[in-house]
Amino acid sequence: MSMLSVAKRLHDVKEYYFSVKLREVRSLIEQGKPIINLGIGSPDLSPPGPVIDALKRSDIHGYQSYQGLPELRKAMASFYKKYYGVELNFEKEILPLMGSKEGILHISMAFLNEGDQVLIPDPGYPTYASVTKLVQAEPVTYSLTEKNNWWPDLKAIEKSDLSKVRIMWVNYPHMPTGSNGSAALLEDLVAFGKKHDILIVNDNPYSFVLNKNPKSILSVSGASDIAIELNSLSKTFNMAGWRVGMVVGHESYLNAILKVKSNMDSGMYYGIQQGAIEALKSSSDWFEHMNGIYEKRRKIIWDICDQLDCQYSKESSGLFVWAKIPLNKTSEETTDHLLYKHDVFITPGTVFGKQGEGYIRFSLCVDEGKMLEVLRRISKKERS
Ligand SMILES: Cc1ncc(COP(=O)(O)O)c(C=O)c1O
Repeated sequence: MSMLSVAKRLHDVKEYYFSVKLREVRSLIEQGKPIINLGIGSPDLSPPGPVIDALKRSDIHGYQSYQGLPELRKAMASFYKKYYGVELNFEKEILPLMGSKEGILHISMAFLNEGDQVLIPDPGYPTYASVTKLVQAEPVTYSLTEKNNWWPDLKAIEKSDLSKVRIMWVNYPHMPTGSNGSAALLEDLVAFGKKHDILIVNDNPYSFVLNKNPKSILSVSGASDIAIELNSLSKTFNMAGWRVGMVVGHESYLNAILKVKSNMDSGMYYGIQQGAIEALKSSSDWFEHMNGIYEKRRKIIWDICDQLDCQYSKESSGLFVWAKIPLNKTSEETTDHLLYKHDVFITPGTVFGKQGEGYIRFSLCVDEGKMLEVLRRISKKERS
């Protein structure tokens, strides 16, 4: 039987790397392999207690507002004020989302026409490029390098023709490298966006993980003319599966995004919104508690890196350790070797772009016991 062909927009889009690779990992587990997964950044710990209590208490099951409960937007506004020093009007400048990932699609649908160009970080979160292709716009990558602290070289980017560029994706603290932005970098990005008429979107889900100084691009004066920000409860409050995030910024940008979103879903489940409200009320003790755990885990990952002769920065933020591998193997050869020889799944840097060659990424979302088992499996003494 001949099957109906798929839409042209799917021709350049591949199934998500993890969707494919985790199928392989699952089949290895089914064969009885004791795989330890240090690949994926899904927090393994629980959200704050009051979050779960609020979900249990909720007993409203109907459709919800497209813009979310006013109490949720108020809680998001208070959170932005308390932790980033950014004032947002809860009625106009905040749109709750089902995770920041869905925001990437909504923003792209709201602002891109076929043939428009989009600046995308390499290495970077793969969704920016795949969504750009889904809406038939053209990804134009900009290279981030270790030498430049994984920051964009705006002067170099400016040398190319930017007339078709409509959006630039940035993401500080940066995934996968863990590089942190600075107030000056955010200022430069806003100035760059204004100069070239490019919407700067800062994807900011990692600002509370191993980072003492969370920053929002909206704290730059005049930023809201040209910049919006995505944020998420996934990593901050261990709520990745709940699917709660937000986009914040000027109401004219948010209204365009709402036009897309209100035609795609019918609001977020009431209980999830109540849980999110509780999460956003957490005090800074929560972050200290979580970061204490992640610091201990990170030390073990650093030991693992030492055993593998990898180099890494101790100044990184976010849920991952990004490590440079010795020159004798590619990233994928290294990760395949660890998977097939030591039953350890980690992510090759190439998943995040060409500039990721020569690097591997370890997740901190696994308990210390399992990390110590990985250390034992790969330690030079065991291997010799
Ligand atoms: C850079 C980056 N942006 C966005 C997301 C998606 O987060 P969310 O769970 O809020 O959709 C992730 C998740 O891994 C990420 O690493």
